[in-house]
Amino acid sequence: MANPVKITETVLRDSHQSLIATRMTTEEMLPIVEMLDKVGYNALEAWGGATFDSCLRFLNEDPWERLRKIKDIAKNTKLQMLFRGQNILGYRHYADDVVEYFVQKSIANGIDIIRIFDALNDVRNLKTAINATKKEKGHVQATLCYTISPVHNTEYFTGLAKELEGMGADSICIKDMSGLLLPYAAEELVKSLKANVKVPIELHTHYTSGVGSMTYLKAIEAGVDIVDCAISPMALGTSQPATEPLVASLQGTDRDTGLDLNLLSDIADYFKPLREKYLSSGLMDTKVLGVDINTLKYQVPGGMLSNLVSQLKAQGKEDKLEEVLKEVPKVREDLGFPPLVTPSSQIVGTQAVLNVLMGERYKMITKEVKGIVRGEYGSTPVKISDEIKTKIIGDEKQITCRPADNIAPELDTIKEKCNQYIEQDEDVLSYALFEQVAEKYFEQRRAAKYKVDGSLADMDNKVYPV
Ligand code: CO
Repeated sequence: MANPVKITETVLRDSHQSLIATRMTTEEMLPIVEMLDKVGYNALEAWGGATFDSCLRFLNEDPWERLRKIKDIAKNTKLQMLFRGQNILGYRHYADDVVEYFVQKSIANGIDIIRIFDALNDVRNLKTAINATKKEKGHVQATLCYTISPVHNTEYFTGLAKELEGMGADSICIKDMSGLLLPYAAEELVKSLKANVKVPIELHTHYTSGVGSMTYLKAIEAGVDIVDCAISPMALGTSQPATEPLVASLQGTDRDTGLDLNLLSDIADYFKPLREKYLSSGLMDTKVLGVDINTLKYQVPGGMLSNLVSQLKAQGKEDKLEEVLKEVPKVREDLGFPPLVTPSSQIVGTQAVLNVLMGERYKMITKEVKGIVRGEYGSTPVKISDEIKTKIIGDEKQITCRPADNIAPELDTIKEKCNQYIEQDEDVLSYALFEQVAEKYFEQRRAAKYKVDGSLADMDNKVYPV
């Protein structure tokens, strides 16, 4: 029986987040959305992740407006977003009322599927977002952050997937943010998930280490339901495997996607000149387009490696890279084997650099490392040893509850603080997540309005409608 592989297209979110620091503008997206909508994708990943921050911070755009504009054109295809559990799209834990309101507004403005993850795979940090999505009748895609460690094996991930299904997940995503999932490991994992959970399984990888399309093929043979791809001019390198070669490879098989290669090729034609533009402006660096074998060698994300190099460069200590790369897995073990994804990748990396440069381990300790040990981010995959605990936080108490249980409702206070800027309900959420950045955006938005209506100086001479 035919069992077509479904494809989620990432060109409007992860692909440009990974290749050009999330700088694709709404104006560059809109002309192609109608054609993307005709393909028959499982979904268009179009929002969330870093796009929200980037709209406000770099593009002087309202992220909510972007979502509504895409939704207006994409009438047939589901829109998907990436959501960092209790961190929403920001970098700290928010109170439940903010998480709930954000989910409500995301769905009201056009999101159908919310992919929810937590950097530590602590399911308690997913609970509020999952329940809120269910309440708003959205599709909950709960996520396994894939990583390699003595505890992160097929049994662990299968148990986690079953737990997420029990919490109400409508589908499960294996999120391989650094391209560590090798083809035969993917086959084993997908087989186990298919045998143990009923909801669809989606696989997300990055091409960073060069194994992405082999991994997809083995996962597809093992029965994976959906894979994430990017249209070819915006694929490969640190982005996703390309859409068209996968569609071609499966043609005529029982997993034929049924997607039209001619239509995909027209879509690729739209993005080719944009790619050239990003390359010539320097926004796209040829360095991120090749195969980064260090990812496999050291099992760290590509982005983390370049961060380590620049941290060492700033100190004139580039020769210490090898030593730091050996220290990274040790710090990771000390901290209970967190998957290396934002923010844990930065936290582990910075501490490893300090441990090497200070010539003594944990002579200097960052406040984020203390936070992890205190339990402020949630529970780590493996319990942190008493020895490390004492070394890092002395006899301070660890938090064992869900971190957000210690955060009082904050939506009303935030509303009061930003009242003067509010032009739409959603502005409160932009402000809640990125206070100063949103404030600057709101001020620019206000200034632009005056420009359109005529300068302030002219106002005396004109009659304005109220
Ligand atoms: Co990704």
